[in-house]
Amino acid sequence: MRPSDFAKASIPDVVEQLTTDEAILLTAGVGFWHTHAVPRLGIPAIKVTDGPNGARGNYFFMSTPAKCLPSATAMAATFDTALIERVSRELLAEEVKLKAASVLLGPTCNIQRNPLGGRSFESYSEDPHLSGMIAAAYCKGIQEGGIGACIKHFVGNDKENDRFGYDSTMTERALREIYLMPFMLAEKYAKPWAFMTAYNRVNGTHVSENPHIIRDILRNEWRSNATVMSDWFGVYSIDHAINAGLDLEMPGTNKWRTLNLMNRSIESRKITKRTVKERAAKVLELVQRCAAAAPEVLDGDLVEKTGDRQSGRELMTKVASESIVLLKNEGALLPLKPKEQGLKKITIVGGNAKATVLSGGGSAALKPSFFVTPYEGIVSALGDVAPDVEITYSEGSRSYMQMPTLENEILTEDGQPGWMGYFYSHQDDDSMTPLDAVTATRHIDETRIFLSVDYPKELTKRFTLRLRGVLKPREKDTDFEFGLMSAGRAKLFIDDQLVIDNWTKQTRGQGFFNCGSTEEHGVFKLKAGVKHKVFIEFCNVRAPADDDPVEAIMDANGGVRLGGAEVQHPDELMATAVKLAEEADAVIAVVGLNADWETEGYDRSTLALPGRTDELVRKVAAANKRTIVVTQSGSSITMPWADEVPAIVHAWYLGNATGDAIGQVLSGKVNPSGRLSLSFPKRLEDVPSHGHFHHEHGKLWYGEDLFVGYKHYHHRGIEPQWHFGHGLSYTTFEHSDLSISEPKIANGDVSVTASVKVTNTGSIPGTEVVQLYVSLPTTSELTHPPLMLKAFAKAFDLAPGKSVTVNLALDKYAVSYWEDRIARWVVEDGVYRIQVGSSSAPAALKLSGSFKIPKRFEWNGL
Ligand code: BGC
Repeated sequence: MRPSDFAKASIPDVVEQLTTDEAILLTAGVGFWHTHAVPRLGIPAIKVTDGPNGARGNYFFMSTPAKCLPSATAMAATFDTALIERVSRELLAEEVKLKAASVLLGPTCNIQRNPLGGRSFESYSEDPHLSGMIAAAYCKGIQEGGIGACIKHFVGNDKENDRFGYDSTMTERALREIYLMPFMLAEKYAKPWAFMTAYNRVNGTHVSENPHIIRDILRNEWRSNATVMSDWFGVYSIDHAINAGLDLEMPGTNKWRTLNLMNRSIESRKITKRTVKERAAKVLELVQRCAAAAPEVLDGDLVEKTGDRQSGRELMTKVASESIVLLKNEGALLPLKPKEQGLKKITIVGGNAKATVLSGGGSAALKPSFFVTPYEGIVSALGDVAPDVEITYSEGSRSYMQMPTLENEILTEDGQPGWMGYFYSHQDDDSMTPLDAVTATRHIDETRIFLSVDYPKELTKRFTLRLRGVLKPREKDTDFEFGLMSAGRAKLFIDDQLVIDNWTKQTRGQGFFNCGSTEEHGVFKLKAGVKHKVFIEFCNVRAPADDDPVEAIMDANGGVRLGGAEVQHPDELMATAVKLAEEADAVIAVVGLNADWETEGYDRSTLALPGRTDELVRKVAAANKRTIVVTQSGSSITMPWADEVPAIVHAWYLGNATGDAIGQVLSGKVNPSGRLSLSFPKRLEDVPSHGHFHHEHGKLWYGEDLFVGYKHYHHRGIEPQWHFGHGLSYTTFEHSDLSISEPKIANGDVSVTASVKVTNTGSIPGTEVVQLYVSLPTTSELTHPPLMLKAFAKAFDLAPGKSVTVNLALDKYAVSYWEDRIARWVVEDGVYRIQVGSSSAPAALKLSGSFKIPKRFEWNGL
């Protein structure tokens, strides 16, 4: 019998045959990524993987290289559901299969209440309609490819600090219209096979045990058939979670749902055997769907693989380049045409130009199978259009939070890239003394080592890891600064001299999912031509800290990270860049954030770019009138220099093909068509949730209510730096001839179509995004947001002078609001105003019209 034969099993029959213990075991995972198998009944285990911008596979460290796609905010900036569906089907589903998994832990579709949210990059948008339509396309594509989507984090996980504890406290209307809406749309259009509950509470109750959200809304109102799983370690009870409808606890390590506790809960009548079997049945349904859709995964060798580096590269570059947003382009500085513009020398500056910035951090991060830096991509694209342009480079100002990792600098004694890791068991589980004999040896080609599930299993509970390598010889003598961070304790020796002691005493920090120390620094003089010995002693027991004398064992989450860079005076770095800018005919400044600033586990504290980046941009712009700024970040950042530079391109986190995509846009090979999936404020104080983004004794007030994102900027008349939906092209477009059909009302739904003529009024082909915003009639006593995106469409590759008519379809979702008192959606009779344009900016909404709904009605469900 093959594992995939379970596709043909009758679930009710199998459930009937399950013993209570077997049913219990099915309701929790095994290890980090698998479900429980019952071979006696032919029930196979399935494996899940993160998610969402690629498939990482089992390992956080020494993981199988993978294709990393653009961050969710970038995907949404394409405003192209067909493209996202295609990418999910053709690329993501294949990647998941290569990782021997059956379910992808994505999409993430929380809402950017505040761009400071550490995981904002991982969710699509501040707008529920755009989020939901893109999420639906993603789920549809991946499931057509035979892989289950697990949409997350359901719901209200809109920031990171205190994520297990905070209580997202909001009106039922905001919950329905904003925060649940992306999930609701995905359920309506794509039926994800699984939902992952959020870590947090919503209105008092943790979502993993929240009957209102799981039972009343997901199961009863939406009639969802999905399997509901917890976020990792996001279960906080036995009976509440089982009774509310949480089918699967993940992961299986340190689980609540042990045989002992579950049987006691049955005995004490806190839960019933029947409910346990119902939960187990939902897990089996997911297993069965996976077995039927991709039998080759379950019947395969279950070994993780990396796909061909080249296959899919074109599609990855396409989605990346189509998400790039041209924010500003005065004097048609872009695209660069060095010959026509007389550019002989171009300088590239900025901390992100040569850095490996491809995604945000945390569980979304993965090891790319290849990566093209912005610098490489720009040099290669310019090489195609103007091979004799001279290109110079200077970092100018550093943008990292933690020192860059050193995998490209360290070699083993025998010259292989990386270093050797020697694992030692201790005398016993509680001892701090390592044995003399090495327990396991591994070649490691990374200097960020996160031992979550992937260290030798034969080790004692407390263990030691010794890392040995040599630094590649330098061309000249240099002072080199090392940074050492650890979850556990660690010491760094260079040539047998102690350079960093993160062992005797530590300061607790936020790294390694909040289990790490801060990064400690030490400087060592490296001699030209010398192979210096690098040695780290690490133990998975953390050291005492000032405020915390506990020497706690790191359990499964030990980790150590070594970074470093040459010591360079910041003023000298800056001066070099400014000098190069003065000498060049144009400057490309590539600046932004990275996976340390935007990550799972903690929120940002500022929207400003790191360190002296703003100063760098201002200084090079003052030195050179042709300064183009390329920004990388997954969410919004402030750009206080926006008026001082002629051209700005926002490039998100773009995955493996980052440099290729940026190069194509700057050189004009691709005419940009991305539109901002979130508003970029001028200052943090203008953000809708400013002042109540912080949890107060665990309570998080969603005080801005429905006025999230652009709705707030319109409502308050605040001018953001860049409006939601904004994005330029190298050509220009005109919208005209708005016509709106007579609404048809039938079967509890509405159908209205708006059609708009789009004309390319410029001189090169281009693609335009048409956005339609609805304003509800003011007939009720309720306050409504001034406008809401309810439809969008793309006019592709329109030739100069050509026109096309695009149709924008509206249904009941476009005209409904949630009425608390009756717990139903309401469509008022009255006049609905629509505005159509190229962004949410008032000046860009050039067309308007209205339609009338003659009779009020209510609805429920999807
Ligand atoms: C994240 C999830 C992720 C899971 C498994 C959690 O920390 O919140 O999004 O899927 O870990 O890695």
